Amino acid sequence: MKLYSALADWWPLLSPPSHYVGEAADLLADLCAATDAPRTLLELGCGGGSLAFHLKRHFALTLTDIAEPMLSVSRAVNSECEHVCGDMRTLALGRRFDLVLIHDAIMYATDEHALRATLATAYRHCRPGGAVFVLPDCVRETFAPGTSTGGEDGPDGRGLRYLEWSWDPDPNDDTFEVAYALLLREADGAVRVELDRHRCGLFARATWLRLFEHAGFAASSRIDRWGRDVFVAKRFA
Ligand SMILES: C[S@@+](CC[C@H](N)C(=O)[O-])C[C@H]1O[C@@H](n2cnc3c(N)ncnc32)[C@H](O)[C@@H]1O
Repeated sequence: MKLYSALADWWPLLSPPSHYVGEAADLLADLCAATDAPRTLLELGCGGGSLAFHLKRHFALTLTDIAEPMLSVSRAVNSECEHVCGDMRTLALGRRFDLVLIHDAIMYATDEHALRATLATAYRHCRPGGAVFVLPDCVRETFAPGTSTGGEDGPDGRGLRYLEWSWDPDPNDDTFEVAYALLLREADGAVRVELDRHRCGLFARATWLRLFEHAGFAASSRIDRWGRDVFVAKRFA
């Protein structure tokens, strides 16, 4: 995915920390209430660290991602946080945390095997009594094909605008497609177009809850004010 490799340094113009203020505030209350005095938080698939930017005042963050270029973006805005390169399906830090968070990176678990492996990673890094939060963009029941647009101008004169287009070519499998058309304007005014295409996982809520239980968690889901599922999974022993 070009967005997370060759185009990673455009991330702050696509999805900067300022876009996550409401979501972080909504999540923070739940994170704080999930366990006694939570202090440490591991994020799997932190991307550019835009959500993490709003959480770092409240927790000691360990931020992980499979893409080193995205970790570089996160380091630029979250320099005080620990960053580790690793795959959410296999990461093994040998440490446990009060909280484990998987935000939209979970969309890249595109089959049950990947989802199981990622939830197993969350389990082995969550201390007994701790909690895991998983926030997919959608589940099977809430998926809707559609488009969105956005983008920002940077202080360095660069600018980005995008069209994001989601559709589900086969409603009988566990994935959908997302295409991005990106207009990138350099500081000297040169504009180019980039195309990127992603495949994302799409699982029914009941599948999610079954896989959490299989991983050893007691899980539930609430719908947030944007209509998205927030899965909260407690590890008891
Ligand atoms: C949409 S971005 C996350 C943005 C992030 N929520 C933020 O606040 O900036 C998705 C991220 O998932 C990461 N990712 C995809 N597959 C992964 C995997 N198997 N393990 C870890 N990270 C993964 C990508 O590298 C990318 O950085």
